[in-house]
Amino acid sequence: MLSPMEAVTTPPFRNICKRYGADVLISEFISSDAISRNVESSLKKMTFNEQERPLGIQIFGNNEESLCSAAQVAAETNPDFIDINWGCPVRKIAGKGCGSGILNDIPKMIKLTKAVVDSVQIPVSVKTRLGYSDEDKPIVEVAERLQDVGIQLLSIHGRTRSQMYKGTADWSLIGKVKDNPRMHIPIFGNGDIDSAEKMLEYKNRYGVDGILIGRAAMGNPFIFKQCKQILEGGKIDIIPVSERVKVCKEHLNGLKEWRGEKYALLEMRKFYSGYFRELKNFKPFRIRLVTTNCYDEVDEILDEVSVSLNYD
Ligand SMILES: Cc1cc2nc3c(=O)[nH]c(=O)nc-3n(C[C@H](O)[C@H](O)[C@H](O)COP(=O)(O)O)c2cc1C
Repeated sequence: MLSPMEAVTTPPFRNICKRYGADVLISEFISSDAISRNVESSLKKMTFNEQERPLGIQIFGNNEESLCSAAQVAAETNPDFIDINWGCPVRKIAGKGCGSGILNDIPKMIKLTKAVVDSVQIPVSVKTRLGYSDEDKPIVEVAERLQDVGIQLLSIHGRTRSQMYKGTADWSLIGKVKDNPRMHIPIFGNGDIDSAEKMLEYKNRYGVDGILIGRAAMGNPFIFKQCKQILEGGKIDIIPVSERVKVCKEHLNGLKEWRGEKYALLEMRKFYSGYFRELKNFKPFRIRLVTTNCYDEVDEILDEVSVSLNYD
């Protein structure tokens, strides 16, 4: 599964990941307050196409009324499921009791989750972390309680809120949730999976039903193809430079069509090192790509990358 990421898992990038083998997709997180207030940019984030199924729309919030009304608005767009974000650690979200901020108040987390489950006819999933702080990792019990109020899939990032993105993800507790005989819904694991080999190792070691890949997929949708290849027992493909350039251009064009040229130029800057990281001598091209504001120039630089660079 392509792990949901703000300003990353946009429709154009999701479609590319799907083509390369991501089985499940989720939108960027969307503020339930903004959806309830009909904020246009938030409503736009809910768009998807049929090829993306199964697809979830992810919402965040802390207020029962707006979470339920946002879930209903999202359900009207007919996604396959609604995902509640109880995992975001950033201060402006968690500080308001949204995202992983709710891990400070488990009874409220359970109450709000139940309210969302009861407010829509489609399945609801949750994505969360191990707990709030390193001294408090109640995920095994929380998972049972979330299942009891009716969620149909649980994704767990093996860090706490206090950890943010520091240290390494602790998968042992994810494994414990999966091993709990009371659990029957699918448990997906998340955190630090950066290669097909690691995906396979963690899948086998912890027995999870699915794995979410986030940062390692940025500019590297090819990782899903490699995961599929390794799961099927085959050899992992090296992706030709020309293919990397072609997909990068498709991503750029897709973002331009979706949100305009300026958005596309700015947002693509965080993807170039992903698309071309393994190529020797990419750095000078990267500097040019992230400093120009001219769309045609980006296109030309990418053509140069295609003819000038290779792996060794
Ligand atoms: C730029 C960025 C944006 C993110 N936005 C979201 C989000 O909107 N919703 C969410 O549930 N998680 C979000 N996350 C967390 C990721 O989905 C994932 O849980 C985390 O990066 C750990 O997985 P990884 O090690 O595979 O990257 C975001 C992470 C990053 C790096």
